[in-house]
Amino acid sequence: MSATREERDRAALLRERINHHNYRYYVLDDPEIPDVEYDRLLRELQRLEQLHPELKSADSPTRRVGGEPLEVFAEVLHRVPMLSLENAFSEQEMSAFDKRVRERLEASGEVIYAAEPKLDGLAINLRYEAGVLVQAATRGDGTRGEDVTHNVRTIPSVPLRLLGGGWPPLLEVRGEIFMPRAGFEALNERARARGEKGFANPRNAAAGSLRQLDPRVAARRPLAFYCYGFGEISDGPLAESHSGGIRRLAGWGLPVSPELECVEGVEGCNRYYAAIGARRDALDYDIDGVVFKVDRLEQQQALGFVSRAPRWAIARKFPAQEEMTRLRRIEIQVGRTGALTPVARLEPVNVAGVTVTNATLHNEDEIRRKDIREGDTVIVRRAGDVIPQVVRVVPERRPAAAVPFVMPNHCPECGAEVIGDADQAAVRCSGGLFCPAQRKEAIRHFAARRAMDIEGLGEKLIEQLVERGLVTTPADLFGLDTVTLAGLERMGGKSAENLVRALEASKTTTLARFLFALGIREVGEATARALANHYGDLERLRQADVEDLQGVPDVGPVVAEHVVTFFRQAHNLEVLGQLLAAGIRWETPVGGVAARPLAGHTVVLTGTLSRPRGEFKERLQSLGAKVTGSVSRKTDFVVAGSEAGAKLATAGRLGVEVLDEEGLERLLQRFEQE
Ligand code: IVH
Repeated sequence: MSATREERDRAALLRERINHHNYRYYVLDDPEIPDVEYDRLLRELQRLEQLHPELKSADSPTRRVGGEPLEVFAEVLHRVPMLSLENAFSEQEMSAFDKRVRERLEASGEVIYAAEPKLDGLAINLRYEAGVLVQAATRGDGTRGEDVTHNVRTIPSVPLRLLGGGWPPLLEVRGEIFMPRAGFEALNERARARGEKGFANPRNAAAGSLRQLDPRVAARRPLAFYCYGFGEISDGPLAESHSGGIRRLAGWGLPVSPELECVEGVEGCNRYYAAIGARRDALDYDIDGVVFKVDRLEQQQALGFVSRAPRWAIARKFPAQEEMTRLRRIEIQVGRTGALTPVARLEPVNVAGVTVTNATLHNEDEIRRKDIREGDTVIVRRAGDVIPQVVRVVPERRPAAAVPFVMPNHCPECGAEVIGDADQAAVRCSGGLFCPAQRKEAIRHFAARRAMDIEGLGEKLIEQLVERGLVTTPADLFGLDTVTLAGLERMGGKSAENLVRALEASKTTTLARFLFALGIREVGEATARALANHYGDLERLRQADVEDLQGVPDVGPVVAEHVVTFFRQAHNLEVLGQLLAAGIRWETPVGGVAARPLAGHTVVLTGTLSRPRGEFKERLQSLGAKVTGSVSRKTDFVVAGSEAGAKLATAGRLGVEVLDEEGLERLLQRFEQE
């Protein structure tokens, strides 16, 4: 039965609403409705389309979930070729580029350049006809690409229908498809959990996802898109400048980099390059440089092209994040929980301005998978603020004598047997606290600034204390006196006195810090805080069972099991008793859990913050606050990062208090200390 007029109208309305909410959520990062409401609209449309397949249009948001797999990719001809860019690697090369531009234009003043990050992903051409996405194609050789419409449709920030009106009947938009770092890490983690290899970097992951024949695979990949240019357009250019054209795209709901800026002359270019370089590691995605484009289209036209690249644009590349070096040795480190971690000792190499001498090799599986051997020449990568990684070996340079690496079966520190860990790929030393490495690590962790914060108890001192048998458990620290301490290497009477004073001061702490300091497996700072807030005192936590523990935000079965196991060990209870007897104390919140300082407060986070939003959310929630997505009169305060938009405006309109990140941090720290 064909659809009635009402059903047709309803489907059209639903499509429009869903597309709008999609834009609010994925492009503006500013949803207007809760997720359940969005799901409800989508399900209603799905039902209608199932009932009446003729209602399923090319721009239907239901298509995002991924349709049937393809047999092969179709070829797409780019009527306006997709070009590449010249590169510049230094300020001199930038100056030479700017000089060429000015000379050709016979410009008297400075040229205005549009500056954008050079995203490390895959170039794509989106074709919109009458405002509807009809085709997405890869760059290919610039003239012929592959049709990847089925996959691109699944990317939530790519509009299936342009918003508003006034777009040309035919509009080709160009941009980059990329995978944000967080999504990439999560994807690889899932792959590894299944025993698969994972992708070497976000770029490969994005490319691999687009090259899938089955769109359901792409639909599960966390891809994103920013546009940076134009292809064929029916009514000629959209504006008189590149930036003006991009602004029009943004107005039609296409995602545009918030970093796009117009700068003046080569000096402006260099300033932009330095500024974004400084923030590179803090961005959510990988960039490999900056692209500068002469902003005025009239000037672009006058400059024209050389072979495959425009004369009006240049990519200023960042120094490579990957370098080659020799792996001298693989050493084993023993951690606080006894985990044995292989570490690569490298011939020092400068990677993007930092000298790298070590890289983690994670575990034996990883070494085997990559077949890393001592003496190998390896590719080392430093991305974001993460620890350097060995990406792969260069097999052609392997010395003939190199042998596969085998994990030792005895702890290199204490000689105890090494045992496999059931839930992880890790192996552990079975020596427990008899293993000096574990003992030292446990004490170092206990004394750390974010744990008990014992000032002056550094690594070297801990080593001596453990090696001389003066300290076996954290509780022993509180029995140390100035005479014993003063007798240690590099310790005078004064520093001994200071340390005893610091030990005394550390005794007044918070339950959260104390729990974190205990070093219970998988209980990091945030979990410790959540446990402390939930239970309010140590005794109640000690009595909690696995089921009860899972009622604490973010505590899953693994963490719950570790907590219960910890409090079941007679030895641990004994040390706990000694610690409390030594005078460690904290204030129990009056009224327990209900007295959490931000209980009853509603908070909205918006804009870009220096750390992932989830982290702030968790901390706020631990203090009892409710974190929501939209600003209303009920909101107690809005935290606005950089580039905060609509929500900040709403807060202003409703007179809701606004905090910047610094203000939030101050507030959190004040309460977290309590
Ligand atoms: S403009 C005619 N802008 O870099 C100009 N490209 O090396 C064509 N890319 O294939 C490209 N970010 O994949 C341009 N903001 C940006 C870019 C960008 C990344 C990539 C793109 C292109 C390659 C050229």
